[in-house]
Formats: sequence, C-alpha cells, structure tokens
Amino acid sequence: MKFVSGSKDLKQSKGLLVLVVSPQELKKSISLLKELEKKSGVKYSQSLKREGFSAKSGESSFFKETGSLKSKAVLILGADKKKKELEDFRKLGATASKTARSYKIDSLDFVAESAGIASAEEVQALLEGVLLTEYQFTKYRKKTRQQFDQTTVRSVQLLSRKKYTSQLLKRSKALVEATDLARDLVNIPASDCNPSYMTRQAKKVAKDGKLKVQVYDLAKLKKMKAGGILGVSRGGNDTPRLVKLTYRPKGAIKKVISLVGKGVTFDTGGLSIKTGGHMNEMKCDMAGSAVVLGAMSALAELKPSVEVRAYIPLVENMVSEKSVLLGDVLHMLSGKTVEILNTDAEGRLILADAIALAEKDSCDEIIDFATLTGACVVALGDDYAGLFCNDEKKAAKIIDMGKDCGELFWRLPFAEEYRGHLKSSVADIKNIGEGAGAIAAALFLSEFVEKTPLTHIDIAGPAFRSKPTEYSPIGATGFGVRTIVEYLMSL
Ligand code: BES
Ligand code: ZN
Ligand code: ZN
Repeated sequence: MKFVSGSKDLKQSKGLLVLVVSPQELKKSISLLKELEKKSGVKYSQSLKREGFSAKSGESSFFKETGSLKSKAVLILGADKKKKELEDFRKLGATASKTARSYKIDSLDFVAESAGIASAEEVQALLEGVLLTEYQFTKYRKKTRQQFDQTTVRSVQLLSRKKYTSQLLKRSKALVEATDLARDLVNIPASDCNPSYMTRQAKKVAKDGKLKVQVYDLAKLKKMKAGGILGVSRGGNDTPRLVKLTYRPKGAIKKVISLVGKGVTFDTGGLSIKTGGHMNEMKCDMAGSAVVLGAMSALAELKPSVEVRAYIPLVENMVSEKSVLLGDVLHMLSGKTVEILNTDAEGRLILADAIALAEKDSCDEIIDFATLTGACVVALGDDYAGLFCNDEKKAAKIIDMGKDCGELFWRLPFAEEYRGHLKSSVADIKNIGEGAGAIAAALFLSEFVEKTPLTHIDIAGPAFRSKPTEYSPIGATGFGVRTIVEYLMSL
C-alpha cells in the first residue's frame, strides 16, 4: 500500500473521497461540505437532508455521483464525539476501507481536516484501521484470496496541507503484519498448527528478523526437568518444545524484557475433558504464543532499544492412556512440585516452566500472554483482557497504551488473600484454587518467580471472537500484539 499527503486540493482525489461531518464542529463541517459541493457541482447536503443524516457516529452516506471531481465516489461519515480518541481514527479507517472494497474502489482519499486529523499518531491509527480491515483467512477455502475478494486498498491519500512522513505507514504496516501473523497462527486448525508447526514458524520469524533462536526439544526438556511442559504434553501426538527467541538491539541495552506466551496448540482439557461446546474453539489456546511470536516479528523492523527474549512453550493437551492422571504430582523446572487436580488447568503448568526459565536466565521483567481462564471471560467479557501487575505505574501505562492501540485491559489483583487456596495436601501447591479462577491462575504463575516482576495478561476473552469486530473478522484478533510492541518501543 502507498501513502501520500501534502495536498489539500479535493481535485487530487481519484478514489473514494472520505469526508467526516461532526455536529460538534458544525461550522467547519458545513464549510467543508460547501467546498466539496463547489468543486464537484453536486448538491450533497440536499441528499443528506433528505436521508435525515444527523452525523451521529456510525452513520454514513455513500454517493456514486462525483460531478466534476475525479473521485470514484464520495463517502460522508458522521462523528458526534467531542474529542476523538486514537481508536476512533482506527475505526474511521476501517469503515472507509470496508466501504471502498465493497464498491471495488482501491484507493482512499481522506479530507484530513474534516476528520480532525492533526497528529502523526492519528494518521498512524487511521492507516492501521485500513490495513487491519484487509485481513481475511482464506487458506482453507477453495477460492483464492483474489477470487474471494478482488479489491484491496492500494493507496491512501490524506488531503491535508501538512505532509506526513512515510515512516508512519512503515510503522503501521509492521504492527499490522505482526497482528496478522498472530491471527493466522491462531486461525490455522490445530491438526496443522501443532508444536512442530509453531516451531518452524518461530524459526522463520527468527531468520527473517535476524533473531537468535534456541529450541529445547523433548530430550532437553527432560534434562531441564521441565515437569510442567512434559506433563501436559504426555498425552499428545506431537512432542513438546520450548522455543526461545532473542532480539538484541544495536548499541547499549537499556533493559531485558522476557515475553512468555501460552502455546497449547489444542486444549481438550485432558482427562478432565471439556464438554459441550467448550472444546470447539480450543485451537485458539496458543494465542498467547502467537502474540509473542507476532511481536518478535516486528522488532527487527521497529528496533526498540531493549533486549527482548521470547519463551514459547508448545504442547498439545490431549486425552490418551499416557495423559497425566488426576492426583499426579509434577516436578517443575523451578524445583517446586504440583498436584494435578484438574488437567484442564494446563496452561499455567507450561507457563510456570517457561517463566522459571526466564527468571533463571535473569531479566528485568517478565510479561506473559495466555488464554488462561474461562473465569476471566466471565468476569470481563470478550472485549477486555485481564491485567495482573503489582506495579501501579506500569499497569496504568499498559492500560493507557492499550486504549490507544484499540486493545482494552482491566486490572485484576494478585490477591494474596487467596494464595492459601493453592495449598496441596501432598505437593508444594495444587494446580487449581478455590473460586476466583482468573486470580487463582495468576497466583499460581507468581509462585514461579522469586524476584523478577511478573505481569500476567489473560487474553481468553479478546483473543478469539465468535462475532466480527470493527476491524477483525470472526476468529483470531491478534489482540495484544500492538500494545506489547508499543510498550517495548516506549522503554
Ligand atoms: N484454555 C482454557 C481457558 C479458555 C477458556 C480459553 C475459554 C479461551 C476461552 C484453560 O486451559 C482452561 O481450561 N481453564 C480452566 C481452568 C479450570 C479448570 C481451573 C477454566 O477456565 O475453566
Ligand atoms: Zn484447559
Ligand atoms: Zn488451555
């Protein structure tokens, strides 16, 4: 996709001309509409009036008629918010992009002033909205992408006097490509996307981004006594892996951040088997690992000044005669023992080993992403991820950045009051708590760090959606990639 800016002239528009009308800025909106009418010779405001267009957010009006303009069509969008947030620009980009494609128009021309676009971040969000909307998962369809949907947006023009740098497109592209990688990995069915496949993808990301890659295979995991990973994978067909990727910036390293992502490529629940429809979407249970891999894939391009290490434990949680039994005790990599009282609480077991290894390797902080608990979805629904972080400032920063990225986080506590719920009568701890499921899982993870600050992000809700969102089709969303990359860039 191409991106141009620097001319305010409506006559420069050759694609879908997008104008935003705001009741809060009626004067400006009217004068821009007048300019549009003057340049085109078409009386748009009369049609808008007839339609009862009131410029509410979400309202839109499409015109094929463009008079003496060279535009293919005109799209007038309403925006009745006093102050737009970055996410509003992303949604604007998404709406324009969807409209353009449905009318087979391959370029967008935004009247920047009408949209209230002023800052570079706003342009970046707009471009992200356009690009994020393009994602389709067509690998498993007879029709190729071209046949499926012939149009993609090839260029975006900002009709503004100000010239914006092409760096903005580069940055939004990197973020969206990383998001799309995560989306693809999650959408691929689990019989194809197993630990071996994920390992190959991780190696590919490493090669493309010149990252260091280490693969801990079954033999190595046994040597390391990674009992959590070994235990959960026992019933699976494929052997487990723990993939470690390292990004090192050129020059001085400010900090070392370790990312950990849950990579259960399919979660049957194990012997505590999932019933009803609860297993249907469980190919998504490696979304945490996909977020981490997606984020790593953007680092070579965006070059943050911190060292970033990714720890990706990969297993299948299957039912077989070899599966972990209820009441079994696992000897974890950290040395702790865990009594298994529900084999469906498996994510925390593989994360525990990966987190312990990250701490052993010594780093400044650990952040994990995991589709960890149904309880988190009950508490926060599909839009919000649960954020566990004992550092007030860091939590506020992640929440703020998330909002700007269009990814919502809500803070939940590492509630010390409930730590006792993890007591086991035979081992050091058990793998389930007593109620407050999302918190119990977070507390369990915290048992595997001694001094390194741990931020745990439960993405069970937003990682995979059964309804489309503004810019994601049904299925994987890639939730978390943009926020974590922006976070790393801010350090
Ligand atoms: N993978 C699931 C959590 C999940 C649920 C992810 C819904 C995405 C959507 C996890 O392994 C799990 O099964 N957790 C159990 C824990 C319980 C047995 C303590 C749960 O949440 O029910
Ligand atoms: Zn489970
Ligand atoms: Zn799971």
